[in-house]
Amino acid sequence: MDPERGSREYKDYDAEPERESLLHSTNTIHSEPVPHSCYTRPRFGVNHLLISFVAGTLACFLAQYAICGSSCFSYHPGNAAAAPVATEPLRVLASPWAGSTERHNFPPTTPTNAFPSLFPTNVGYAGGTPTGAEPAVIATAPSYPIHSGAPVLVTPESTNYGILRKWGNLSPWYSVDRTAFGLDSSPETPETCRVTGLHFLHRHGARYPTAYASYGGPAKLASRLGAAASKWTASGDLAFMNEWTYKLGEEVLTPFGRQQLFDLGISMRMKYGFLLKNFTETNTIPVFRTESQDRMLASAMNFAIGFFGYPFEGQYQQSITIEAAGFNNTLAPYKTCPNSNDKSKSDRGRAYVEKWAGVYLKDAQARLTPQLVGYDLSIEDVYVFQQMCAYETVALGYSKFCELFTEEEWDGFDYSLDLYFWYNSGFGFPLARSLGIGYVQELVARLTHTPIETHNSSTNATLNDNPITFPLGQSLYVDATHEVVVLHVLAALNLSTLAAQGPLPADHIPANRSFKVSELAPFATNVQFQLLECTSQPGPQIRIIVNDGVVPLTGIEGCPEQKDGMCPVDKFVAAEKDIIGQTDWIYDCHGDWGIPDGWSTTTGEPPRS
Ligand SMILES: *[C@@H]1O[C@H](CO)[C@@H](O)[C@H](O)[C@H]1NC(C)=O
Ligand SMILES: *[C@@H]1O[C@H](CO)[C@@H](O)[C@H](O)[C@H]1NC(C)=O
Ligand SMILES: *[C@@H]1O[C@H](CO)[C@@H](O)[C@H](O)[C@H]1NC(C)=O
Ligand SMILES: *[C@@H]1O[C@H](CO)[C@@H](O)[C@H](O)[C@H]1NC(C)=O
Ligand SMILES: *[C@@H]1O[C@H](CO)[C@@H](O)[C@H](O)[C@H]1NC(C)=O
Ligand SMILES: *[C@@H]1O[C@H](CO)[C@@H](O)[C@H](O)[C@H]1NC(C)=O
Repeated sequence: MDPERGSREYKDYDAEPERESLLHSTNTIHSEPVPHSCYTRPRFGVNHLLISFVAGTLACFLAQYAICGSSCFSYHPGNAAAAPVATEPLRVLASPWAGSTERHNFPPTTPTNAFPSLFPTNVGYAGGTPTGAEPAVIATAPSYPIHSGAPVLVTPESTNYGILRKWGNLSPWYSVDRTAFGLDSSPETPETCRVTGLHFLHRHGARYPTAYASYGGPAKLASRLGAAASKWTASGDLAFMNEWTYKLGEEVLTPFGRQQLFDLGISMRMKYGFLLKNFTETNTIPVFRTESQDRMLASAMNFAIGFFGYPFEGQYQQSITIEAAGFNNTLAPYKTCPNSNDKSKSDRGRAYVEKWAGVYLKDAQARLTPQLVGYDLSIEDVYVFQQMCAYETVALGYSKFCELFTEEEWDGFDYSLDLYFWYNSGFGFPLARSLGIGYVQELVARLTHTPIETHNSSTNATLNDNPITFPLGQSLYVDATHEVVVLHVLAALNLSTLAAQGPLPADHIPANRSFKVSELAPFATNVQFQLLECTSQPGPQIRIIVNDGVVPLTGIEGCPEQKDGMCPVDKFVAAEKDIIGQTDWIYDCHGDWGIPDGWSTTTGEPPRS
């Protein structure tokens, strides 16, 4: 579905680490915007077109410097095709570089004033450093603190219906409605109980677009617009595009994404700091896990500085597992599962998104087309405008693209991501259970304090069988991963109440859907596996809390209906062991199976012949 990339490339929006972007296929420009007085002047003689790109940019720079003076120290050569536009300065055409890529490349590689020896990092004289008691908000406060969004991001006033929550996996995480998953409960400690442990699984924070996009893809649209910049003119709601450049990088965290993880670390310390007492008593420190990918490591570091404060060295140990082809890794399980590279099995979601976009974006396409004369605006382009809104907002703090759509169209966008991830990652994805089972095996090992029996999925014996790198007796675990893996894990756990609607249709949004990606797998999404002891319940209990919403465990065999979503740990473990036993990694990941027409799954398993 993505002709520019090899068919062996992994398909998802999020977990794709490679960097062979299409971004660089046009003559993109890495510089500051030019003041208006500079770019309205003709900057290209005909002879410039004949010079090579590099020579051309240099000549242009010199010429422009002469025209604009020292206040105009940057340049925008555009591309050859665009140049003739500048000879008609009175026509209101898109700027020759509209759609081109702008990069600022901070920090400079060899700054002239960098003298680390003059800036020692440890000068002593810290003053007194006594610490106090650990906070325990989930036990001590009368209510649970709600995380409502993103104070540093600006959205248009016309979208005050909560546009940030209508972006599927691109939404910043927020506390879902108390009853979102069907239970009237909340994460604070139920009466008669005390919390004894926490297994915390979270996603990285807001990032730039990934290098790969199955449908849409901001960089691809920027390339198309940039290549055709001399041909199109925008007006009306789209007039801003005449001066617009593409400013997004790839893959890495945005400043806001950094804040999300820092805040998450602080909020978890406030809620569960008391669990650290257990480490002091046993003379140990926690082990948190993340992966090698830049945004994964940066997310874990920001979480740690929020959770432990600066400096965090010595307070915990960070396991950085390798996310790369061939490495067993439960937090990046697709890297050893060949069938997840087969698009006929792993990218069925694209067709659903495409079909649905053709329904909900029809009006928008008709509305926007006359405002972009000279460019053939496809449904997919309009879809990218919506992606652009989300990405620009979480990267740059505001996006003009957000103003272009109605609330209903944002609901449509949100649903397009439900479709995509239902079929490509969650309960509707035939590899979900296998890809999620490694983490479930680890969870069971930790809950039972018993090493993993057989390494026959994505688990890594070297790490998992070593009690230092994979401790079993701790009261607090923190693991960082991708949204696709969170969705695999929710499916592998058999949280079937989240899949109650069954296969999602591509022609309308079903009422009361229980599978909403903006609630399950947004940026910095987080799952609390809370362990409790209660005088009202026999034996240790577990409950699962996704983005502060308590998930019913009644779909898991042996788990009773319980108003706070609790299940006895032994019942839970027995059911999960059952599912582990039913899972066949070799068949699922290596088997030669196909998907019959009309076949579907709601348990994340492949067809069995
Ligand atoms: C297990 O993880 C370690 C550390 O990341 C890595 O060196 C090793 O290659 C992995 N083993 C397998 C079989 O992938
Ligand atoms: C890696 O995973 C494969 C497939 O499950 C398994 O056969 C192998 O033993 C694992 N290797 C390690 C070191 O865990
Ligand atoms: C610490 O926590 C672990 C895991 O919950 C538990 O097994 C152990 O008894 C606790 N130790 C102390 C000293 O509280
Ligand atoms: C949606 O939920 C409401 C309230 O729970 C219920 O009354 C209604 O029948 C449900 N609709 C569908 C289509 O399931
Ligand atoms: C998994 O979920 C399905 C569907 O709700 C249910 O029939 C099955 O019993 C569950 N299995 C286990 C082991 O929990
Ligand atoms: C993997 O090992 C477990 C025992 O730890 C077993 O129940 C399960 O069936 C095995 N899966 C495969 C695919 O061999």
